[in-house]
Amino acid sequence: MEVIILSDKEEAGRFAADAIEALVVAKPEAVLGLATGSSPLPIYDELARRHAEEGLDFSRTRGFALDEYVGLPAGHPESYWEVLQREFTSRVGIDPSRVSAPNGSAEDIATACAEYEAQIVAAGGIDLQILGIGTDGHIGFNEPVSSLASRTRIKTLTEQTRQDNARFFGSLGEVPHHVVTQGLGTIMDARHLVMIATGAGKASAVKAAVEGPVAAICPASVLQFHPHVTFLVDEAAASGLSLGGYYRHTWNNKPSWQKL
Ligand code: F6R
Repeated sequence: MEVIILSDKEEAGRFAADAIEALVVAKPEAVLGLATGSSPLPIYDELARRHAEEGLDFSRTRGFALDEYVGLPAGHPESYWEVLQREFTSRVGIDPSRVSAPNGSAEDIATACAEYEAQIVAAGGIDLQILGIGTDGHIGFNEPVSSLASRTRIKTLTEQTRQDNARFFGSLGEVPHHVVTQGLGTIMDARHLVMIATGAGKASAVKAAVEGPVAAICPASVLQFHPHVTFLVDEAAASGLSLGGYYRHTWNNKPSWQKL
């Protein structure tokens, strides 16, 4: 696990964008795992800028959303498929046919989840998965005590997560209770995991994920088992870390040949 402490969310966004640019240049048909929420927005803004100003080409890339709400009507502005189109894929020229999200409106959710897993495998697996972290330590919508081996399935949101996400909806009452999310096992299959966490509200979740015991009470702690995880955190999100000095020292002395 690499922990890089950066000055602000824009710098974190540029670092993640560097990793994604390097991947897409080396492998134009790369498969990206796409998070929603506010954390990845600086990444999407930076990639949209590079696409517009520098011609960074995403036309052959494929995208898979991490999660989706259950029960929002098609076209709802807060459905994660819509959010991804609006915030990222339409801005970088990825055709909607190349973007998939779990189907939160399926009549048979269990079958739809199994099909989603199969689609990811058929695409060759996810090369780089962007992640944010919930204040309760969730990744995707794998809430506390999710199985560390879970696959894509329906989950019930905690009230804390519903309250955190109410800012995207008109009121708390409009936030769905259920979601379909890639499981922790699904996320762990991606080849590179890039977590972006910014703001003081994420400090205790980041501390538990990076330096706590691996335990289902903090789902993000499972990332400690992944061979290639990059945590991009701003000063505020890093403020609870015990080994902050070591992470800075490691970054300052990183061999020049070693990439993110
Ligand atoms: C969203 C997702 C969630 C968010 C997390 C943090 O696709 O998977 O895990 O990353 O809830 O949300 P923000 O970034 O809005 O604080």
